[in-house]
Amino acid sequence: MSAPKKLYIKTYGCQMNVYDSERMAESLGGQGYVETQSPDDADMILLNTCHIREKAAEKVYSELGRFKGLKAQKPDLKIGVAGCVAQAEGEEIMRRQPLVDLVVGPQSYHRLPEMEAKAGAGAKVLDTDFPEEDKFEKLARRPKAKRGPTAFLTVQEGCDKFCAFCVVPYTRGAEVSRPVDRVLREAEDLVERGVREITLLGQNVNAYHGAGPDGDMTLAQLIWELDKVEGLERIRFTTSHPNDMMDDLIEAHATCKKLMPYLHLPVQAGSDKILKRMNRSHTADSYLRLIERIRAARPDILISGDFIVGFPEETEEDFQATLDLVEEVTYGTAYSFKYSTRPGTPAAERAQVDPAEADDRLRRLQALLTRQQRQVQDSMVGREVGVLFEKAGRLPGQMVGKSDYLHAVHVADCDAQPGELRRVRIVSSGTNSLAGELIG
Ligand code: SAH
Ligand code: SF4
Ligand code: F3S
Repeated sequence: MSAPKKLYIKTYGCQMNVYDSERMAESLGGQGYVETQSPDDADMILLNTCHIREKAAEKVYSELGRFKGLKAQKPDLKIGVAGCVAQAEGEEIMRRQPLVDLVVGPQSYHRLPEMEAKAGAGAKVLDTDFPEEDKFEKLARRPKAKRGPTAFLTVQEGCDKFCAFCVVPYTRGAEVSRPVDRVLREAEDLVERGVREITLLGQNVNAYHGAGPDGDMTLAQLIWELDKVEGLERIRFTTSHPNDMMDDLIEAHATCKKLMPYLHLPVQAGSDKILKRMNRSHTADSYLRLIERIRAARPDILISGDFIVGFPEETEEDFQATLDLVEEVTYGTAYSFKYSTRPGTPAAERAQVDPAEADDRLRRLQALLTRQQRQVQDSMVGREVGVLFEKAGRLPGQMVGKSDYLHAVHVADCDAQPGELRRVRIVSSGTNSLAGELIG
């Protein structure tokens, strides 16, 4: 028998790319590939790329350049580009970097085995179609392979919101939900393989409306179906849009025990003028009222968010409104970015904010968000939380896991095994993690 071929995948961008990379690796497993952690001994290198900001996209070309030497030594090495840069700039990639054998957009991953075979025969292949078929159904799985305690599961993909700054509607295509029975089957398979916590993924996950036995189901209804899966202990979902935060989902946060008290709900900005120009279709006030309703349902919920500073025409006063909103919400975690011009999006045509000014705003916003994050983390000290243990810590006898609120928790002299969910009392709060002790 010939030695298995080796596949090196490097993943950029969001959690959906992490999930897609896992699925591509499983699928190429059917072609005789095993994964390797180093590009040096790979027979195929796949970069799963992100197009959300300019820096992310440019990284791909510098990374590709680094494989020149490898390819010279090993002419049979195949180099592929997948993900959102592949979708947005497929032909340009082929032109700019002749090393690339294969370009595959996010909606064509099920065609990867065929493409790999063609590339193996020496062809250059590019597929950035948006085919009708369900790629996830067609991507081969390895049902028996063991998994760690946590996993992502894509239930919804694409976006119809067209925020003025964002490439996602173009790179991932129109919003599509996977049918309920397929999601359940995949969840059951993951649980059989050792998974205890599933994070449901979608660019607009709370807009989920997958086909169920009696018509479309909402995300909350899907969560209640998953709640019945024995052995599954925790459910999370991300990313949500404020306008799709339906009553039944808010209610599920109050009543579904497996649904974790954590909600990533990006607002982007606090000025109504900017929100309107961003085409966000919510106001600062409607967002704040929504947060109030969510906290009324689940008072301890940890709120996380995304922010963009320096969006075209943002004034100091507009930025101040973002700081005011942050003060009012108190975020447990947050991701904040300087606006990056994306060719082809509506905002790219507008008057840009001075980059030095935008840098300064980002610094001020991040200082506030970091303060809040620390304050929320510190407030956990003395509380009892659930911790799902994932792996051994750096110190002997120490175990590390995640709390219900997604904080990393270290426990010394810990007899819990990876995959065990235990009650833990938090005793101290460090820079980026908590320390606790097992209860009972
Ligand atoms: N679907 C999610 C997130 C999409 S991308 C949502 O609707 O919230 C993740 C984050 O990247 C966004 O929330 C936004 O804060 C940021 N982002 C998107 N486009 C950007 C751009 N052109 N410049 C800077 N940040 C951007
Ligand atoms: Fe992008 Fe807006 Fe869609 Fe989120 S909701 S993916 S920010 S267009
Ligand atoms: Fe990036 Fe595409 Fe995700 S642009 S953030 S990899 S959807």
